[in-house]
Amino acid sequence: MNNSFVLKGAVIDSKNQDTLRLTKQGYVVCVNGICEGVFEELPEEYQDLEIRDYTDYLIIPGMSDLHLHAPQYTYRGLGMDLELLEWLEVNTFPEESRYADLDYAEKAYELFTEELLHTTTTRACVFATIHKEATLLLMDRLEQSGIKSMVGKVNMDRNAPDYYCEKSAQESVQMTREWIIEAKQRFKRTIPVITPRFVPTCSDELLKQLGNLAREYDLPVQSHISENLDEIAWVKELCPKISCYGDVYHQAGLFGNDVRTVMAHSVYSSEEEIKLMKENQVFIAHCPQSNTNVASGIAPVRRYLDDNLRIGLGTDIAGGFSMSILRAMADAIQVSKLRYRIVDETQKPVRLEEAFYMATAGGGAFFGKVGKFEKGYEFDAVVLDDHALKTPKELSLRDRLERIVYMSEQCQIIDKYVEGTHLLL
Ligand code: GUN
Ligand code: FE
Repeated sequence: MNNSFVLKGAVIDSKNQDTLRLTKQGYVVCVNGICEGVFEELPEEYQDLEIRDYTDYLIIPGMSDLHLHAPQYTYRGLGMDLELLEWLEVNTFPEESRYADLDYAEKAYELFTEELLHTTTTRACVFATIHKEATLLLMDRLEQSGIKSMVGKVNMDRNAPDYYCEKSAQESVQMTREWIIEAKQRFKRTIPVITPRFVPTCSDELLKQLGNLAREYDLPVQSHISENLDEIAWVKELCPKISCYGDVYHQAGLFGNDVRTVMAHSVYSSEEEIKLMKENQVFIAHCPQSNTNVASGIAPVRRYLDDNLRIGLGTDIAGGFSMSILRAMADAIQVSKLRYRIVDETQKPVRLEEAFYMATAGGGAFFGKVGKFEKGYEFDAVVLDDHALKTPKELSLRDRLERIVYMSEQCQIIDKYVEGTHLLL
């Protein structure tokens, strides 16, 4: 299909972190996959483009899921009675080890990709497993789906069961290098991302070499940070000389203004860690449903927003059971209200505008100019049908968005575009 066209309908995107731009009836223009802007009247120069009529529907930017684990899709909604470290031992490592079997990986990744395709997500940062071949298989599926993603072969060389642990830092790095070279040759939309699991399962030597690889191949980095209190205590024990959890990544060269890094959670980041992340422009993937399910806590998102940290949302499948970023928006708002009421009444709850910003422009920034309908942005759009949410009341466009966020399971995704390409749902 042609990559230059006009979408007509009710258009919503973020003006900035605090404000929505609501266009009741408008035109969003895409030329060669790039957005030209939103217009109330279609300018003369675009009159020859094909107009796709979505008059009764809402058109929003595609959403970014900044953190999820594809191999954990198989056990989402299971084993939620455990906290993080036990949850990893009992559920995660046994399941992830199964992806050495490519037949199993193929079945599982097919289902994962199919479901992701039917969400509002157009961009995703995805963890795979330690296996090179299964990771390439996942990348292949995502590439074919049309979604743009960053996918990581996971690295871990210590404090993991024998059946799911790489034998040495050298072996882990060698395998990662081979995977990077192959992935760079094979995929256009699917970028390899350096993926140390988290500090407890990665030796200093491994982290340092992964920092070098990120620079050598100019690749982004993803991992976990300050998610759970037992995890943080363990990191202190393992690395007694460091000043905070993030300092371990920083010293290994995994934080820096010359490397693009996203860290999941930041539930318990200290002042020093927050400063380090801000100085190095590290993105935070806020994963409210996962933080609730594995009883990690409530991240201080108000603080991050007010302090202008870079922040987006993550589903963290299978810490989270839902693959919907609309649901993650609702969860982010709800947990922020509990934090406000129970923990700190000076920290106001997250507003709809801010949750929408995190889901679109905030997370999208990790991928470049993504998540808004401004001129020069890559054209990612989702068309939503909210007709099932019946009411005799008259609703503003903002009202309609609010109801979609809270009752998203009753709404339908009509169409989805990634960089101007219409995806087949
Ligand atoms: N920390 C290290 N590994 C994981 C994981 O798979 N999920 C979550 N939520 N946290 C982690
Ligand atoms: Fe995670």
